[in-house]
Amino acid sequence: MAAIGSDLQKAIALLQSDELVGIPTETVYGLAGNALSTKAIAKIFEAKDRPFFDPLIVHVPDIEATYQYVTHIPEKALLLARNFWPGPLTLLLPKKPIIPDLATSGLDTVGIRCPQHPLTTQLLKLLPFPLAAPSANPFGYISPTNPQHVNQQLGNKINYILDGGECQVGLESTIIGFEQDQPIAYRLGGLSIEQLEETVGPIQIQLNTSSNPTAPGQLKSHYSPTKKLVIGNLAELASKHSHQHIGILAFNREMPGIEINRQKILSPTSDLSEAAQHLFAYLRELDQLPVEVILAEEVPSVGLGRAINDRLKRASAQ
Ligand code: TXA
Ligand code: MG
Repeated sequence: MAAIGSDLQKAIALLQSDELVGIPTETVYGLAGNALSTKAIAKIFEAKDRPFFDPLIVHVPDIEATYQYVTHIPEKALLLARNFWPGPLTLLLPKKPIIPDLATSGLDTVGIRCPQHPLTTQLLKLLPFPLAAPSANPFGYISPTNPQHVNQQLGNKINYILDGGECQVGLESTIIGFEQDQPIAYRLGGLSIEQLEETVGPIQIQLNTSSNPTAPGQLKSHYSPTKKLVIGNLAELASKHSHQHIGILAFNREMPGIEINRQKILSPTSDLSEAAQHLFAYLRELDQLPVEVILAEEVPSVGLGRAINDRLKRASAQ
């Protein structure tokens, strides 16, 4: 198992020797390594069992640092960065050669993000290089939102996890790329499209549901529990699966007639931020119960609700 603590010097020493460290961010925990070192990057892919066609996000301490790694920042990208960094927003920008092709899976853009977490901000400011960090879960499984989740799944592959408590947002960053300087959303996430549009106007949404080579990684099946997950009307699903041990992931209220310890309620007050924050941890808890199938319902499809529903659909895809 990895040690869990808040020793920045220890994290720095490991990262400087091309070792990996679990790091907290506001979205999910990351599996971090030196983004300028092919050796560290290779270790990330290996530890996650991640296919090499799925590029990594590079984390920086601020906007200024971004210029070291990209050739150009479109005007609307700069507006977004100024308004929403640090925060759950990744910008796809044309990369400089200093970013290894291994990190970007050979693409000529690199995903750059400035995360919002005091410990990780300090770490990024102290390091002489940026951090490549995918979510700290084995490829395809539910993303981690606390250090224990990271330890359960990758504890045998890394030495140290920085303890930043529970993630406040709970959904990965929203990914925005640019074509002719116009913004396109490739992944819905912790910042809603509505919020971003207030700053830059209309954003086209291009979510991929298969391994589309133009945006690798937006795979149809992802974020999956090991148990089967079915989405729909909970009452109908519960009667259809009445012969099985079921677990329930509900939006705002319990299902009558089902044991309460097999049910998780994302937000009793119908608050979508709270629902987002709980989503992955609750899916994980249900996955660990002695249930055969997890039944879930969609949440209202507005704001963060769209990203939550996106994760539920990918988690339920076979
Ligand atoms: O919130 C987050 O973004 C978290 C935390 C740790 O920062 N990180 C994260 O990384 O979610 P990961 O590797 O699990 O997801 C990154 C996604 C992948 O689906 C990948 O395909 C996409 O970003 N991506 C990265 N660089 C890209 C690029 N240049 N072009 C298209 N997609 C890219
Ligand atoms: Mg991930």
